[in-house]
Amino acid sequence: MALTIGVDVGGTKIASGVVDEDGDILDRTLRHTPAGSAEKVALTIADAVSELASRHVVAAVGVGAAGFVDETRSVIRFAPNLAWREEPLRKKVGELVGLPVVVENDANAMAWGEYRFGAGRGESHVVCVTIGTGIGGGIVLAGELYRGRWGMGAEFGHTQVVPGGRPCGCGNLGCWERYASGTALLADARWAAEADPSSAPHLLELAGGSADGIQGEHVTEAARRGDPAAQAAFDGLAGWLAQGLADMAAVLDPGRFVIGGGVSGAADLFLDNVRAGFAERLTGRGHRPPAEIRVAELGPSAGVVGAADLARRR
Ligand code: BGC
Ligand code: NA
Ligand code: ZN
Repeated sequence: MALTIGVDVGGTKIASGVVDEDGDILDRTLRHTPAGSAEKVALTIADAVSELASRHVVAAVGVGAAGFVDETRSVIRFAPNLAWREEPLRKKVGELVGLPVVVENDANAMAWGEYRFGAGRGESHVVCVTIGTGIGGGIVLAGELYRGRWGMGAEFGHTQVVPGGRPCGCGNLGCWERYASGTALLADARWAAEADPSSAPHLLELAGGSADGIQGEHVTEAARRGDPAAQAAFDGLAGWLAQGLADMAAVLDPGRFVIGGGVSGAADLFLDNVRAGFAERLTGRGHRPPAEIRVAELGPSAGVVGAADLARRR
């Protein structure tokens, strides 16, 4: 039975695991993502892989990274929210570890993991949306991961939802991820607390009194305690998500959407609104089966499991 290693490179952590054919993680490591240079990130990935490969016989390595990966799955050409530009990650890591390496977009890897072993199982047409620092997308059509002509498809986060809107890390204005990501949720909560402190009693209490001190987890906690500003931030997120999913359904007509990423851990605060908003906005509603909307099941492991499985099928 061939084992492979999956690596999920995030902005703060690099999670790696040895994964079997059933999608089970047999061994794992966690490293901090080194700040500053792409060189150090490659070295840290190689170090984590070498540690795991010293304990298991593995056939290949899949690395999921938050950026635009070329069609040969070798080079991260661009990353809106990270420092990668024309980064030949496959070559660097491959030379250091002496194993075949494929690089995948992080959200594609998560989508594949969920499709094979999580909330996408049993459905042939799955669209996965990951909500975190940015918004990632992954498309599985008729059981195949759709990458586009140049490997850069499914970048849902960078569809323009507000002409001339908030500036995005990709260089454009008004991208969906400026409105419906975890980053946007936090920004909206801070603005609301700043503009009208009386609307944000729990937010401000959790943050030690100042809007600047509000962190992501405070927004979730405050919303659960009934804080109006925090709840409004989640309601806003739900509205943007509902509209985005309806737009994606118009183009891709999936049987199921899977919502993943860090913010999906707070799905109880927005999922019902997303489902309702989606049903209201879906084009052709009443004359088509509406796609199901489910929460990802593999949690933070989806990227590791998906990248490993894609490496196995390289
Ligand atoms: C990037 C994607 C990535 C997503 C989630 C977006 O900003 O463009 O490549 O998948 O964030 O990390
Ligand atoms: Na993607
Ligand atoms: Zn953008």
